[in-house]
Amino acid sequence: MGVTVLEHPLIQHKLTLLRDKSTGGKEFREVVGEIAMLMCYEATRDLTLDEIEVETPLGFAKSKVIAGKKLAFVPVLRAGLGMVDGMLRLVPAAKVAHIGLYRDPETLQPVEYFCKVPPDISERDCIILDPMIATGGTASASAQFLKNYGARSIKLLCILAAPPGLEKLEKEHPDVDIFTCAIDGGLDAHAYIIPGLGDAGDRIFGTK
Ligand code: URA
Repeated sequence: MGVTVLEHPLIQHKLTLLRDKSTGGKEFREVVGEIAMLMCYEATRDLTLDEIEVETPLGFAKSKVIAGKKLAFVPVLRAGLGMVDGMLRLVPAAKVAHIGLYRDPETLQPVEYFCKVPPDISERDCIILDPMIATGGTASASAQFLKNYGARSIKLLCILAAPPGLEKLEKEHPDVDIFTCAIDGGLDAHAYIIPGLGDAGDRIFGTK
């Protein structure tokens, strides 16, 4: 597994806007979408290309197209939904699978409460969208659920990550490549990333 920290100046500038507690809901949502689009650009660098011939207004050109590789974007409910539109702006043909998990209060194990994936998931490159990787519990369970549904190629995009979450993913899913905009210092007692950006879902959907 590899962890790639995306240092692009536009991404880093936009991350600062997300961290700022004075950024309001509308701007926060828009910037999450913009960062997702930039992350999508970075995470799809390894897509293979075919060469075709295309007729221009002035002649014929040999030119490249993406080689029939199919993508599935997999937002983890609910904060991952904030990243979907930005991703689809770059790859409108991608399918969107959804994963909803809660933690069983008795067993503390993640339980799937909603999961809808395209039937050809095993033929698609899956990109899990979860803005915050804190303990890594939800992300790891999401990767496992996707594998149970047949997924063979999985990447994970998170806007912010913390070391405990990355360590868990590295241990449990060494095959999953992770793209993030920054790795923060750690977690507080409620498993929020410190200094982080707060509760991503609440800030995207205005629920706090
Ligand atoms: N989820 C969030 O939304 N924020 C955190 O800091 C950690 C998990």
